[in-house]
Amino acid sequence: MVAIDGPAASGKGTLARRLADRLGFAHLDTGSLYRAVGLAVIRGGGDPGDAAAATAAARALHPETTPRVLADPALRGDEIAAAASKVAVVPAVREALLAFQRDFASNPPGGARGAVLDGRDIGTIVCPGADAKLFVTASVEARAERRLKELRDRGITVIYAAVLEDMRERDARDSQRAVAPLKPAADAFLLDTSSLNADQALDAAISFISSKTGLS
Ligand code: DC
Repeated sequence: MVAIDGPAASGKGTLARRLADRLGFAHLDTGSLYRAVGLAVIRGGGDPGDAAAATAAARALHPETTPRVLADPALRGDEIAAAASKVAVVPAVREALLAFQRDFASNPPGGARGAVLDGRDIGTIVCPGADAKLFVTASVEARAERRLKELRDRGITVIYAAVLEDMRERDARDSQRAVAPLKPAADAFLLDTSSLNADQALDAAISFISSKTGLS
């Protein structure tokens, strides 16, 4: 089982998907769970900063029986990213999502021979016994540039300064929260992707994973 953590737009999602393909593992983007909770609160007319509403939405989420909730394109927007980061500070929300993540890691769906989970607390809290842990990072400026390009490619008009400011706010909320903050596990391999493309990041990750596990 491979754990990948890191801040927004660090490249961890792309890396996790490509690693899963390469290793024949199932992939879970755990951010989509928090996004699904944020979206459910907003659709219900609630405030994502309201801990009781967020907890109720997390307890009502059943990704094991309705995997469609994690594939909803509405999850990808920036408003939902901000909502996800707000519901994620609530300990009862994190607790409600834990069993699904651990079960995915130990019984990967579709008969896969392993799992890759990516998020903020996979190596530290969700799967501290992971076979290999990576902490993927990049400078906040490099991540804001990537996010800007992604949004513009989707036809969304944004300015760099606003994207950078959003990124800083989300970093602060994710790293400074009391429960399960974003931080590298003591035994994680630190992969800085500021000046790496997706292929170079994959190569570096594969060589670390094969040194730890023998898989390649
Ligand atoms: O990875 P992402 O950008 O989709 O995550 C959205 C938010 O969800 C992120 O800002 C913090 C939260 N999150 C978390 O707290 N723990 C995780 N394992 C994954 C995401």
